[in-house]
This record gives sequence, structure tokens and C-alpha cells, in this order.
Amino acid sequence: MADSRLIVALDVKSDDEAIALVEKLGDSVCHYKVGMELFYRSGGNIVRRLRDMGKEVFLDLKLHDIGNTVAEGLVSLLPLGMTMVNVHASGGYAMMKAAADRLRDAAADTQVERPKLIAVTVLTSIGTRDWIELGETESIANHVVRLAKLAQDAGLDGVVASPYEAGAIREACGDDFLIVTPGIRPVGSPLDDQNRIATPDSAIANGATHIVVGRPVRTAADPVAAVENIIRTMEGAKK
Ligand code: C5P
Repeated sequence: MADSRLIVALDVKSDDEAIALVEKLGDSVCHYKVGMELFYRSGGNIVRRLRDMGKEVFLDLKLHDIGNTVAEGLVSLLPLGMTMVNVHASGGYAMMKAAADRLRDAAADTQVERPKLIAVTVLTSIGTRDWIELGETESIANHVVRLAKLAQDAGLDGVVASPYEAGAIREACGDDFLIVTPGIRPVGSPLDDQNRIATPDSAIANGATHIVVGRPVRTAADPVAAVENIIRTMEGAKK
């Protein structure tokens, strides 16, 4: 049985490859992530196809520009029917508020279901050295919580963050805030290029509402069995 807390990342190079994986996973997965790699090749077509197949779609385009441009960009994406979409929190309060307000109004005007709007806090690929190079002085962990609170104040539904920060965000932002965590590795899976990883159950136990998993499912000898194992593990999480 599918669990919409599990989002499988479709980091593949064509619609055909994406749809083949979705068909292989069948009813075991109901929620997919489409990122830049696939969207820049396929455009809205892949989102529409996934929606036609009854799947939820997190459109992970990480918009970052002045408020008006981001807000209008989101309005342009709205007819695709994605169920979740994101912007960079470092675009600031006014940008996020413009995005949330315009998206809410446009969805109401066109009677399209409003996608959840979430914010990327600090990319997990940023290490301490990059952080210092950027001239930042606050700790990454404190900055992530600051951005999460700013996103919440601006009317966003949640954030993307590492599983390590999920607990502090949950404490600061309360129970109704979405926390989407990539960097998930079931016990025994290769790390690939991920560093700060967590298992599905520990991410959920720390307060994540969703986990994003790519390679541990896509490259598994039996992807459906890999998904079933992840879902079983999440169900056993202590919260
Ligand atoms: O294959 P893997 O499970 O590592 O894929 C994780 C997915 O989450 C990829 O689509 C990657 O771009 C995304 N992601 C990430 N770390 C972030 C933000 C997004 O791994 N901080």
C-alpha cells in the first residue's frame, strides 16, 4: 500500500525512463519528485502525465528571483497541477509572501487546487567552508531555523531541510508545518554522494513529514521491494 510520505525522486533523463519507473513501481508509490533535470527536458508534459496517472507531484524547481518574478512564475506553473512546489527561502520574506499570496489568489481564481508551497532553507550540499566563504557568521543550524520561521511567517506550508535539522524546525514551527527531507538511506544502501544521511524511520522520528528517496529505489534490484521496506521502516518510526 502506497504511503504519500515517501516521495520518489525521478532524476532521469527522459519522460520514457520516468514513466517506465513509475509503471514498474505501480501502486506501491503515489508521490514523485520532478526536478530541474527532467523538467528542463520534458517541460510540463511529465507533470501532466504523472497527474493523469493519479500521482502526486512535487515540482522541485527551487525558484529564486525577485518577488514578482517568482510569484508570476508559480502562477504560470499552476495549470500543470503539481501538488507541491518550492522557492528558496533566502529570497527573503517579501519574495516568499508575494509567492504565497499570488499562488493562493490564482488558485482560487482558476479553481485549481492550490499546491503546497515550501521553501528550501540551506542546501545540504553547503558545508562549513562554503558557509564561511559566503561571509555567513551565524551557524548553519540556526540559520536553517531562522529561514523556516520566516517561511512560516510569509504563509508557506513548509520547508525542505536535512533530517538533522528537522527536530529543531518542528520545535520552532509547530505541528502543522511540512518538513521534506532528502538524504535518506535505508540501512545497507550505498551512500552515493550523500554525506549527512538518515534512515527513513529516524527522519520521521525527528519530525519529517515527507522523505525524498532517489537512488536507493531507482537502482535497487527489486524497486518495489525497496519501497515496501522503506514504508515498513517509516511505519515503525517512534515519534
Ligand atoms: O538519489 P538520492 O536519494 O540521493 O536523491 C535525493 C534527491 O533529493 C535528489 O533529487 C536530490 O537532488 C535531492 N536533494 C538532495 N539534497 C538536498 C536537496 C535535494 O539530495 N539538499
